[in-house]
Amino acid sequence: MKYRTVVIAAACCAALIGLAHSADKKESLYTVVDGNKVDPNTMKGFRTWRSAACDRCHGPNQEGMVGPSLINSLKTLSKDDFLKTVREGRLDKGMPSFGGNPAVADNLNALYAYLKGRSDGAITSAKVQEMQ
Ligand code: HEC
Repeated sequence: MKYRTVVIAAACCAALIGLAHSADKKESLYTVVDGNKVDPNTMKGFRTWRSAACDRCHGPNQEGMVGPSLINSLKTLSKDDFLKTVREGRLDKGMPSFGGNPAVADNLNALYAYLKGRSDGAITSAKVQEMQ
C-alpha cells in the first residue's frame, strides 16, 4: 500500500490553519492512499474542481486544453499566485474569475490541496474517493 503525506510547515501557510485536521506544528496539505483515496479536505477540493467545471478548459486530467496543464503549472506557480489567479482570473487571456462564486471562493485551499496532489504525482488519478 502506498502511503504518502505531504507535510508543510504551519508557519508557511497560515491560511491552512483551521482546515487541516491536526493541531500539530506540521499540517498536512493533503493525504492520499493508493493514489486515489484522499482525506476529506482534498475530497472537497475535487468536488470543487468538478462543480466549477475547470476541466472544460484545463482538461479532465488537468493536463491542459485551451488552458494550460495545471499538473505542470503547480510545480512552479506559488500558492499565492494560484489563489490570485482563480479569484481574479486573467480575463484578457481567457481565464475566468471565480472570486464571486462562493462554491469555489470558499473552497480554494481544498482545491489547491487537490491540484497540488495531482501536480506532485501523489494523486495518480484525477477521480478520487474519500478514504475510509
Ligand atoms: C473558460 C476556460 C477556463 C476555465 C473554465 C478555467 N480556466 Fe484556468 N485558465 C484558462 C486559461 C486560458 C489560462 C491561461 C491564462 C494565461 O495565459 O495566463 C488559465 C490559467 C489558469 C491558472 C494559471 C496557470 C499558470 O501556469 O499560470 C490556474 C492556476 C488556473 N487557470 C486554474 C483554474 C481553476 C482552478 C479553474 C476552475 C475553478 C479554472 N482555471 C477554470 C482557462 C480557463
